[in-house]
Amino acid sequence: MLSVKENMTVEFSLSLLEKFAEVVARYPKGKQKSGLLPILHLVQAEYGWLSVDAMDKVAAYLDIRPIEVYEVATFYTMFFLEPKGKYVLEICRTGPCCLVGAERMMQHIEDRLGVKEGDVTADGLFSWRGVECLAACGYAPVLQIGPEYTFYENLTEEKVDQLIDELKQKAQTK
Ligand code: FES
Repeated sequence: MLSVKENMTVEFSLSLLEKFAEVVARYPKGKQKSGLLPILHLVQAEYGWLSVDAMDKVAAYLDIRPIEVYEVATFYTMFFLEPKGKYVLEICRTGPCCLVGAERMMQHIEDRLGVKEGDVTADGLFSWRGVECLAACGYAPVLQIGPEYTFYENLTEEKVDQLIDELKQKAQTK
C-alpha cells in the first residue's frame, strides 16, 4: 500500500488503470458506472483510503459526476474517507456482541493501541472502530480486518493482544 497524506492528490498508475479497464469491460457500453464499487475498492486497496482527489479522478475516468462517486463512497462504511492505519480493527458493537463483552474489547483495544476510535497509531499500523452487526452473532464478540475481511471470533483480551502482536510481526516481515 502506498503512503497516504491528508488531502492526498493521486496519479493512478498504469497497472491500476488496467484493472479499471478490466472492471469496465464487464458491463455493456455506456454502463461504465456499474464498475464504480469495484473501482473504489481497487483505489482504496492501493492508497488505503479515498481522498476527494481520488474520487474526482474516478468520476472523470467513469465519465460521471463527482457527486455520484461521493454518494456511494459515503454510503458504504467499508470505504474510508480519511487516512487509516494499515490494519483497521472493526469490532462489532451491536447488542449481542455487547452482551458478551464487545465494549470491554473496544476499551482494551483503545488502551493497547493508545489511540481513540478512528485515529491512527504513530507507526501508521493500526486504527480501530466499532461497526454494526457482522452477522456472526453466535461467535460474539467478533471483529474483522479488511481488506480481506478476516473474522476473529469469541474474542478475549488475550486473543486481541495476540492478534495485535501477530499483525505487528507481519508488518515487519513485509
Ligand atoms: Fe455482533 Fe451480530 S451482534 S456479530
